Amino acid sequence: MHSNIKLFVEADYDAMSQKAAEIFAAAVQAKPGGVFGFATGGTPVGMYRVLTQMYQSGKLDFSGLTAFNLDEYHPLKRDDAQSYYTFMQEQLFGQVNIDAAKTHIPNGEAQNPAHECEAYDKMIEDAGGIDFQILGIGANGHIGFNEPGESFSARTAYVPLTEITVQSNARFFASADEVPRHAITMGIRGIMMSRRILMLCSGEGKAAILRDALCGPITPLVPASVLQLHRDVTIVADKSAAALL
Ligand code: GLP
Repeated sequence: MHSNIKLFVEADYDAMSQKAAEIFAAAVQAKPGGVFGFATGGTPVGMYRVLTQMYQSGKLDFSGLTAFNLDEYHPLKRDDAQSYYTFMQEQLFGQVNIDAAKTHIPNGEAQNPAHECEAYDKMIEDAGGIDFQILGIGANGHIGFNEPGESFSARTAYVPLTEITVQSNARFFASADEVPRHAITMGIRGIMMSRRILMLCSGEGKAAILRDALCGPITPLVPASVLQLHRDVTIVADKSAAALL
């Protein structure tokens, strides 16, 4: 594995969540007014729970943060139970003292997605870029919603979801038919422009793709493999996800 990647292997999901929360909290304490990139999915839920507890016990202050989420389904109403807007409200933003006016998520209701993408990049730029980006990894190696084959040079983009992603995210919806077929996602180039990246990875189902991403060839066919080119990446994995490294 490349030496620019720091890897922490923790015993289980809870230990992974705790470790990731500690790394995140240290970054906030180092730069309380920083710009933080947030991710959704099942994997970071435990970390968000620990961060909420840190806030409740007075150990962490979110009031100075600016937040940009990676992605949002399109089309999907902001208040839909499965929107990433709702997810962030429930898992973190609605639980801590973050300033709602400084939280940003791509608009899944945008009439003109191309315009929304440009506006999103402009907001990130105006905020000074992302200091610290949290990532998960999809079953097919996607980061954000950058599916295999998406160009490494894209910034925020309106993208189709692959069938694998629709099927693996169907668990959150009533059925696969309900899963939107598109998303607005920060692109690979945008993600790579973050100054620091923290990726969480849990479960044996992610072991092969994590190995491919960290130890295999750097290729758009495994979007997360681009992280091998970033200068400051930390991976926190549980034992099952790290089993093939
Ligand atoms: C979604 C998100 C990704 C996330 C991935 C993995 O598709 N767009 O940002 O990393 O799911 O999800 P999970 O953590 O549930 O495995």
